[in-house]
Amino acid sequence: MSKGPHKIRGTQDIFGAEADRFRAVVAAFERVRRLYAFQPVEVPVFEATEVFARSIGETSDVVAKEMYTFEDRGGDSITLRPEFTAGICRAWLSEGWRQHGTLKLASHGPVFRYERPQKGRYRQFHQLDAEIIASDSPAADVELLVMADQLLKELGIGEGVTLELNTLGDAATREAWRAALVAHFERHRGALSEDSLARLGRNPLRILDSKDPNDRPIVQSAPGIDDFLSPEAAAFFAKVTAGLEAAGVGWTRNPRLVRGLDYYRHTAFEFVTGRLGAQGALIAGGRYDGLIESLGGPPTPAVGWAAGIERLAMLIEAPPSAPIIAVVPDVASTEADAQMLVMHLRRNGVAAFIGYRGNAKKRVEVARRLGAEAALFVREPNSTGEPQLHLTQLSPDPDKEFLKTVQSALPKEWRKLPGTAPA
Ligand code: HAM
Repeated sequence: MSKGPHKIRGTQDIFGAEADRFRAVVAAFERVRRLYAFQPVEVPVFEATEVFARSIGETSDVVAKEMYTFEDRGGDSITLRPEFTAGICRAWLSEGWRQHGTLKLASHGPVFRYERPQKGRYRQFHQLDAEIIASDSPAADVELLVMADQLLKELGIGEGVTLELNTLGDAATREAWRAALVAHFERHRGALSEDSLARLGRNPLRILDSKDPNDRPIVQSAPGIDDFLSPEAAAFFAKVTAGLEAAGVGWTRNPRLVRGLDYYRHTAFEFVTGRLGAQGALIAGGRYDGLIESLGGPPTPAVGWAAGIERLAMLIEAPPSAPIIAVVPDVASTEADAQMLVMHLRRNGVAAFIGYRGNAKKRVEVARRLGAEAALFVREPNSTGEPQLHLTQLSPDPDKEFLKTVQSALPKEWRKLPGTAPA
């Protein structure tokens, strides 16, 4: 075991192939968000605690049990963001972004929840986030779902992922459904798990999420939302599903999908996979028309989703690494030339590596471990003082196009030298 301070439980040090996969997920998200014309946004990693408490809901697990909350040196209650949505809405209000009309925003970065760590579940994890603020159109819900579907496909993990979709209806629907659920669970009070009993008073919808086997039959027989849907809510949901059909995005109805954050109205969804054990939700979100109002703003319809970067990264193939050339001084006297050459290549857009010390053989070993395509040896000048270069391939199957680029990026006087062209 190493000496020195330990990593905090539930945090991660991401390196090597894992870091490459993490970056590949973010790069795919950046590509897709541009394709869908979402603007980038950056918001603080911490906010006043009330930003999250008021919007996510005091009775949600996130607010009640999972927030990293502390008093700062000025005596203010601060919370590390457990998600992006509330902070983005706070920014929308405080910065007066209402003037922009409907805004499509995208962000990514770390989020913090004090959860029990396990595979795919961390205390500091990272989310991709996409939000459409100030639109009540079901087309916005559809666009976000199609975008999520495209992201999964671009990452090569569309297979085996199911879009589970539900509607939570409008406020009237939710109230009526909630009352019926409370009545149902009250009738089975004696058989409910302790956790579910506690939720009965605080947040009865969440009982539908119970993983306790004793609760399963009670949950299965609970009334579904469809009997309580107002005609308006049903019509809205029908437009969302019609949009998905038109776009060719498959989905299944999960009438018990309720989500862990209290702000959802109408559309609620999760893209789930069986490939990550218990932590199957990859991308999740929904409509949150009441959130901005709960922060003191005007009634503002909005919809969005977030994805766990780590969970997506676990499912993708390692991306091919970008090619790199190693520059190696053959003897100590060509060190300065090699340094000049590596700088020249980098300034001309070629990824190049040079070791700091050791003889040529050692430096080549390091370059090989790094996955360099080839080594460009800088040899002693010949008798007429001309610099000498020699190219040796390091990878079994070097990228020929890249090696051509390296050659054309060499300083003019070195470009035509024998031994610099790829074989
Ligand atoms: P959420 O369902 O709480 O929704 O989280 C979204 C995604 O973040 C999950 O589907 C999962 O992939 C990932 N995730 C959540 N908790 C963890 C964890 N402890 N470790 C690793 N990954 C995790 C939200 O956060 C909402 N803000 C989504 C949204 C945006 N709704 C509307 N707009």
